[in-house]
Amino acid sequence: MNKKFYITTPIYYSSGKPHIGHAYTTIMADCLSKYKKLIGYDTFFLTGMDEHGQKIEETAKKNNLSPQEMIDKNAMIFQDLWKKLDINYDIFMRTSFDEHKKFVQEKFTELLNKKYIYLGEWKSKYCVSCEENINSSEVVKKDNKFYCQFGHELIDKNEESYFLKVSLFKDWIKDFFKNKKDFIVPQSRVNELVNNFIDNDFSDLSISRISFDWGIKINENPKHVVYVWLDALFNYVSALKMKNKFDEFWSDKSEKVHLLSKEITRFHCIYWPIFLKMLDLELPNKIISHGWIITKTGKMSKSLGNVIDPIELISEFGTDAVRYYFMKDLSIEKDSIFDKDLLISCYNSDLANNYGNIVSRVSGMIQKYRDGIIPKFKKTKNKLNIDFYKRINEFVSKVEQCINSLNVNIIVNHVLNFENDINLFIENFKPWNLFKDGNKEELNEFLNLINVAAKLVVWYLSPILTNATKIACDVLNFDLNKFNYKKWENSLKEDENKKINPNVIIFERIKNKE
Ligand code: MSP
Repeated sequence: MNKKFYITTPIYYSSGKPHIGHAYTTIMADCLSKYKKLIGYDTFFLTGMDEHGQKIEETAKKNNLSPQEMIDKNAMIFQDLWKKLDINYDIFMRTSFDEHKKFVQEKFTELLNKKYIYLGEWKSKYCVSCEENINSSEVVKKDNKFYCQFGHELIDKNEESYFLKVSLFKDWIKDFFKNKKDFIVPQSRVNELVNNFIDNDFSDLSISRISFDWGIKINENPKHVVYVWLDALFNYVSALKMKNKFDEFWSDKSEKVHLLSKEITRFHCIYWPIFLKMLDLELPNKIISHGWIITKTGKMSKSLGNVIDPIELISEFGTDAVRYYFMKDLSIEKDSIFDKDLLISCYNSDLANNYGNIVSRVSGMIQKYRDGIIPKFKKTKNKLNIDFYKRINEFVSKVEQCINSLNVNIIVNHVLNFENDINLFIENFKPWNLFKDGNKEELNEFLNLINVAAKLVVWYLSPILTNATKIACDVLNFDLNKFNYKKWENSLKEDENKKINPNVIIFERIKNKE
């Protein structure tokens, strides 16, 4: 039986259009899902929309739409972007699905029966934009008004509410973090969570609202709707139930990973494990909390007018360039500045000069020296060939380790080093001299080796470069699905007498505008 891998993005608020931050997380999740598939896992990839709550209700009203009209419209806009970015999810989850609503209601009842829920009075400063209670220590006061750390104005809440007894689990969650060091990536976020939230006023969580009704009604008391974060987090499990994949992908045998960025780490790392623990359900294995994409003028925001539209980037540079740049140049640990000039130089150096050039050189040399036919494979004693043989083995031996690190930066660097070594091999081997001297055997072996090396590059970047892969496979006459990277040596024999096609330019260099 294949190993299982479940990866999720956050389900995005349905109150606005997607920007490059949403695109970044979703591309990364898509790549991780495709990488795991590449090494033989069964995968399930979830993305979707968070469609309830006060923010959605208020935004719809401002736009003269009903909440349902607005969420339907925005779900289509997000799905359209994912299509343009070649995102292959297994479910586009929406919290307005009836199955999800029923699931949340059942879990609420279960928590009520287990006596983890009580009715009380909720008094708090609240951020509607973040849909989050703000602790007194986090409130920013300015001109007699109160704001959250992201500059959203806070409102006073004072209403009847159900509470979840999360405070009972304070020691449990601290121990959990202590014992499971690799639960949160990067680990530097753990101290932040413990100091700012767990050791600082960790009180029971208000989990219902009565001041608006765009949400899931609580069966036992329908004037209350479920707090949007409780509703939303449950989507990760209700989606699997909906698709009959729960037993397969939420079991202890499955690797379950949530991908998100730092501002919602608290909900995923503290509250979500507690909800699951209360319900005796499996916990996720890992939460990857990446940094933000910011611009040269700071964090993207509508009011600053610096929001970058991913659709514009795709039409200017193409899907592959956007996917590759995001995966190579943006960091998980820190915030990264999005910069078009860097995108252009990354495109030119890595995609046009390295990737495209390797496919083109391999095809060109096989055309020139062997009329486009891959020669018979025979081992010789040529030292450069022997060394390169070892280099391929070294590259292949690290593939799984790199993919299992779940860090696409590492994967890309691994392949970049290999690409540099292919170019170096060609420069040192000087096939043009052997061709002149008529040294057939060593030249043939060299052509066999660079053909398989180019195939490995194409194979290894195929989860990122979804369009270029098709073109490169065409040129190299390469069937990705039949390739077994662990047995790469077999293809030296299998490819004998195969016809290589003339090269086409995969990535045209972009000229800098200046
Ligand atoms: N609806 C909640 C999530 C509920 S999950 C159970 C939410 N939605 S959101 O629309 O605000 O999306 C937040 C997520 O979008 C971040 O966690 C991150 O994955 C992505 N990004 C949004 N802006 C971002 C950047 N500027 N940079 C990188 N990613 C960020 O929170």
